[in-house]
Amino acid sequence: MASVLHLSLLLLGSLMVASAGNFHQDFDITWGDGRANILNNGQLLTLSLDKASGSGFQSKNEYLFGKIDMQLKLVPGNSAGTVTAYYLKSPGSTWDEIDFEFLGNLSGDPYTLHTNVFTNGKGDKEQQFHLWFDPTADFHTYSILWNPQRIVFSVDGTPIREFKNSESIGVAFPKNQPMRIYSSLWNADDWATRGGLVKTDWTHAPFTASYRNFNADACVWSNGKSSCASSSPSSPSSSSAWFSQELDSTSQERLKWVQKNYMIYNYCADAKRFPQGLPAECRTS
Ligand SMILES: *[C@@H]1O[C@H](CO)[C@@H](O)[C@H](O)[C@H]1NC(C)=O
Repeated sequence: MASVLHLSLLLLGSLMVASAGNFHQDFDITWGDGRANILNNGQLLTLSLDKASGSGFQSKNEYLFGKIDMQLKLVPGNSAGTVTAYYLKSPGSTWDEIDFEFLGNLSGDPYTLHTNVFTNGKGDKEQQFHLWFDPTADFHTYSILWNPQRIVFSVDGTPIREFKNSESIGVAFPKNQPMRIYSSLWNADDWATRGGLVKTDWTHAPFTASYRNFNADACVWSNGKSSCASSSPSSPSSSSAWFSQELDSTSQERLKWVQKNYMIYNYCADAKRFPQGLPAECRTS
C-alpha cells in the first residue's frame, strides 16, 4: 500500500514537472504596462521598449543554486542605447547578484555582453565580451551554473566566464541568499553607448527582445527550505550533477578560446583601477 501511494506521488510529481517550463507558470510580468507579453501558451515571452517605458519580468521562485538556462533573441537592427538585462538577484541592501547584460549597438556593430558578480552588495567584478555570432538573428542559450564551488556563465554551452569560490583566501561568495531571476529591457543611452556618445534612435521603437525555453535544474527556496528538482521533463529530478559540476578539459579549452578572442574587458587585468593591487581572486589564476 505504501509503495502504491509512493508511486502515485511520483507520477503526480512527474506530471507537475512535465508541465513546467512555461512562462505563465514560472514568471510574473512586473513592469511595462502592457509592453511585456507572454505568448504561444506560455512558450514565448517578449519585452519591449519605447520612448515612454521599458518592461520587465521576474521569476515566481527564489533559487539557492542551480543551472538555469534561457534562450534570448536580442533587439535587432540599430539597438544602440538599449540594454537587455538578465540576472539573478537576492533582495536587500547586502544582496547577491549574478549578471548578464546585453548592451545594444548601431546596426552591424557588435553587442557587448557584460557580466558581473555581486556578493553582499559589492560588485566590481566586470568582464565583457563580444559574441561569435549575431545574437539578434536567432535565439541563443544563456546559462548560469551556480553551485557552492563556482559560478559559470555559458553561451550555447560554451563557458565564457568562471567565478570560483575563493573563500579560502577571503573572497566572499554568493551562497546564503536565495535569488530570483529578473530580466528587463530599458534605455541607457546616457551611459551604455561609449559613455552616452550614441543616442537611442526612437524612430526604430518599439524595440523588442524575446525569450523562450526556460529551464531550471535548481534548488527552489520556499518557507526557509530548499528543495532541489528539475523543471525539465527530459532530465529527471534525480540528476543533480550540476550541484558539483566543474569544467572538464574540453570546457576549459573553450573558455580559454572565448577569453582570448572575445573578451573585451577584464577587471582582473585593469591594474589602473586597483592601485592597491588586484582583487585577491585575480591573483590566484
Ligand atoms: C559598438 O561597436 C563599436 C565598434 O565595434 C565598439 O567599439 C563598441 O564597444 C560597441 N559598443 C557597445 C555598447 O557594445
